[in-house]
Order: sequence, then C-alpha cells, then structure tokens
Amino acid sequence: MALVYPHKLDLALTPTPFQLLGRATAKWGRGHRLWVKRDDLTGCTLSGNKVRKLEFIAAHAIDTGCDTLITCGGLQSNHCRATALAGAQLGLKVHLLLRGAEPAEWEGNFLLDHLAGAEVSCYPKKQYVAEIGQLFEQWQAHYAAAGRKALAIPTGGSDGIGVWGYIAACEELQSDFAAAAIESAHIVTATGSGGTQAGLTLGAALHDLPATVWGVNVCDDEQYFLDKIASDAGQWRERYPGVPGVDVAPRVLDGHVGPGYAVATPEIFELIADLAALEGLVLDPVYTGKAFAGMLKELADGRFEGVRDIVFIHTGGVFGVFPQRAGFQPGL
Ligand SMILES: Cc1ncc(COP(=O)(O)O)c(C=O)c1O
Repeated sequence: MALVYPHKLDLALTPTPFQLLGRATAKWGRGHRLWVKRDDLTGCTLSGNKVRKLEFIAAHAIDTGCDTLITCGGLQSNHCRATALAGAQLGLKVHLLLRGAEPAEWEGNFLLDHLAGAEVSCYPKKQYVAEIGQLFEQWQAHYAAAGRKALAIPTGGSDGIGVWGYIAACEELQSDFAAAAIESAHIVTATGSGGTQAGLTLGAALHDLPATVWGVNVCDDEQYFLDKIASDAGQWRERYPGVPGVDVAPRVLDGHVGPGYAVATPEIFELIADLAALEGLVLDPVYTGKAFAGMLKELADGRFEGVRDIVFIHTGGVFGVFPQRAGFQPGL
C-alpha cells in the first residue's frame, strides 16, 4: 500500500545536510563511522526537530479553520519557541502554557517566545503537572468565546499528526544513505516527548531504511517511551486509516538521563565543549548533549558491534545552551 502524506506546509529548510564527523570518528569511533544528520539546520531561529512536526501540525490547524495554536512545555522549551515563530510566520496567534514560575530575566527560548509575539502563561510546576489538561480546555474555551478557534498541540508536538515529520525525514535519510553508500546503520536520537523517535521508527519501517533506530531518553525511563511511542503510532494509524501496516519495535537506550531532566553533569558540559572545538558542532545540555554522550557510551560498551555506520540526528536546541552557560564556566 502506498504511503499518502497529509497536507504539509514548507517551514523547514530541507533536505538538511548529512555529514561525516571525521575527527569525532577518529577520536571515539572504535572502528565505526560517526555521521550527523543536521536537523539543527532546519532554520535559524525556527530550527531543530520540531519544525518538521510543525509542518504537518500547522497545516492541519489551518485546514481545520484554526486561527490560534496553544501548546505547552518547560520554560526553555524548543518546541514552544518553534511554535511561536512558526505561528508568527503564518499569521496565527500562539499561546504558550509554560511549566515554572515566570523568570525575572528573559533568555534563550523564553526570550524568543516573547520576540515572536506569543502570549505566555507560566504556571508553578505543581499546578502545571496537575492541571495541564484543564488549562488547555480552559484556554480553548476562552478563545472559542472570543470567536476564535484554537488547536491544542500536545507537549513536543508529539502525536499522530506530528510523527509525519520524521516519517518524511526518513525519505531524506534514504537519499543520504545512498549518497554515502551506507548499507546498514544505527540511528540515534534524543527522545523527550517521543514523537521524533516514533516518526523515525515508523519511517524506517515504511521506507525500508536499513537502520535500527534508538532513542536516548532525557527524562522518564525505557518503559515510558516504549508506551509513548506505541501510543503515538497507534494515534497515527487511527487518524489515517489508509496507512500501510508496519510493526513498530521502538528501542530505547536508558541510563543516560543523569541527575534529571535538563540537569547535566560536568562531563556533559565537557563533551559539548570538546565536540564544538573538534567539529564545530554545538550540542545542548538538555537533549543532544546527553544523547551524544549516551551514544558514545553505548558504542564503547559494544552495543553497535557488527554495524559500521552510526548516524546521530542533531535535533537542535542551541538556545538551551545560553541559560546554562554557568555549566561551561564552573568558576562562575
Ligand atoms: C533539541 C531537542 N532534541 C530532541 C528533542 C526530543 O524530541 P521529542 O520531543 O520528539 O522526543 C527535543 C524536544 O523534546 C528537543 O527540543
């Protein structure tokens, strides 16, 4: 059965580059070749993995008559920043429901949210966790009463619509693999709300990509993501009944969260600085830094034995570096 994509908008600068990390390969490869898919280059401020999901989500919003997007996340959410900028680009109102007390200083993604003109509501963590479902409903009702129509986008844009972003990205990876003569690979991505990994896992199966997809979780645990990816894939099938039947077997590399979500150890900051100096590639301490560190640790432990090529999906997140600058200057 052929794969028919739903309508999407052009927001991401794609195809993104696919590059061999020669010096990183020499330093850490142990016989493997390390590649990077530069999804940090899907745009400048509208950058990272979320843009691929938003191409489908924003198209759905417009096609169903929505004039407002409501979404949620942490104060430094890359997804919220990308939604704010995409909304501004498309002339849609964006309302962000953020987890945490309003910071005194606007910086990183939070600053960009405001520059993009998004309405921002901050909720104390406890309230946010207990009430986020109700908050979405309240705000949707608020906009409805004002004659508007708001689409509620879940955390990270990870749902049955958002997964199309990385299903489509697997077509790019097919061409990348062909150009680089890669016949078999492991693909590694950071996983936070599961949608990128769900899309890659589905996409690899749908497009016969000769690759095993791994998510390095930056929060929660393996079981959480196995369930989350199954749920995103299930939603996708329900929403688009004509899609081909494929088995999803998500794989999670657990054990690399460190002290907690968005809290990194000195080793992660050191690795980010090392890679930036070695390859000119900047990771972040919340997502990609931990995922890259997890990939290197698993590689050293022999997880990828027998397969030469390892592909790291650089999912962006550079604006998360600045609020954590003290981690790079331990004396501060
Ligand atoms: C930079 C970055 N990388 C990776 C992820 C993880 O992607 P996903 O939420 O689709 O699991 C996120 C968002 O959570 C992110 O902002």
